[in-house]
Amino acid sequence: MIPLVLRVNGREHRIEVEARVTLLDALRDVLHLTGTKKGCDRGECGACTVHVDGERINSCLALAVMQEGREVTTVEGVGTVGAPHPVQAAFVARDALQCGYCTPGQVMSAIACVREGHTGSDDEIREWMSGNLCRCAAYEQIVAAVRDAAE
Ligand code: FES
Repeated sequence: MIPLVLRVNGREHRIEVEARVTLLDALRDVLHLTGTKKGCDRGECGACTVHVDGERINSCLALAVMQEGREVTTVEGVGTVGAPHPVQAAFVARDALQCGYCTPGQVMSAIACVREGHTGSDDEIREWMSGNLCRCAAYEQIVAAVRDAAE
């Protein structure tokens, strides 16, 4: 086991993990931050999207031990029920979810999309969000929500 200080949503956590443990599994299984979802566990679905130092990543493809000294942000760190992030509010207003399983990853990608300015057109939004799959196919509403949040 490797001792590790993981900074998540502004809080430091002293944990021990095996070297092979992904950031996704450390978040869910060690820190019990289960907002970040596991879909494919191999970089194909985007359900596990988080931000590390402001960049979105698939947390299933990152080792936890490589995140020391970095700032990890999960969906738990961007808004609350009473004070949602503008992107979260736009998802609700546009009904941009069905089962909701992909939504945390969609929201984290959408926040990065808006922040980095990839919202010049619906096609640009679709391209940016293309790594986040939705088995319910709420894609039109998701694009609309991102467009609204960018305005
Ligand atoms: Fe990480 Fe699917 S669980 S991309």
